[in-house]
Amino acid sequence: MKVLESAPHRYDRGIKILTLGKINKAYDRIVETIKKEDTVLDIGCGTGMLSYRAVLKGADVTGIDINSEMLDIAEKRAHNMELKIQPTFIEMGVAELNNFEAHSYDVVMSGLCFSELSDDEIKFTLKNIKRILKKEGVFLLIDEVKSKSIFKRFLNIFIRIPLIIITYILTQTTTKALTNIEERINKAGLMIESRRFNFLDNFIELHIVKEVKE
Ligand SMILES: C[S@@+](CC[C@H](N)C(=O)[O-])C[C@H]1O[C@@H](n2cnc3c(N)ncnc32)[C@H](O)[C@@H]1O
Repeated sequence: MKVLESAPHRYDRGIKILTLGKINKAYDRIVETIKKEDTVLDIGCGTGMLSYRAVLKGADVTGIDINSEMLDIAEKRAHNMELKIQPTFIEMGVAELNNFEAHSYDVVMSGLCFSELSDDEIKFTLKNIKRILKKEGVFLLIDEVKSKSIFKRFLNIFIRIPLIIITYILTQTTTKALTNIEERINKAGLMIESRRFNFLDNFIELHIVKEVKE
């Protein structure tokens, strides 16, 4: 989706087309467990699609992103929505996550950002998420993945090629999928509590905990 972010004003439209309009429902679902007054860190917050949903639930949200133009849109959106509590947006890359204090967040969430990170960045980010989360903290991840089923991978190609072309024509943006994300999360010492795939198995919503409740 990096190409899309070179034109941030087209980002929301592009992502909606690529996901056949399903992304908003997925975002609504993933923030369902966020509670009032939770401290929430949104990694790669982009235009704030997840951040403002969490703010509407009464959470205290900080969004970080390396793209200042995406952050400008996020800030304008928060301002236009006249939110009672404003999220804090910081221009910052995942490489700086070690600046956050240990055990400081109830929730860390990330939408469609991991698929833009290098393997080393993913490893570093997961390690820091575990460190940043409070004992009972939760990590919510939504991203694009490669299906394990060969049949679904083919189906995906057939369905998505026209979509990718249309999206590119309309928005000059495109996309890339994650591989082995569940294994990497487990390796970082975090535990996947629940997962949900879409029909094509190319989008995953993960509810991950730092420690299993006794
Ligand atoms: C596809 S967008 C998703 C934005 C938003 N989370 C959403 O779901 O609409 C990915 C975002 O990740 C950000 N990003 C990419 N690499 C990053 C990094 N190393 N550190 C922080 N943010 C990064 C991009 O700038 C972009 O805004």
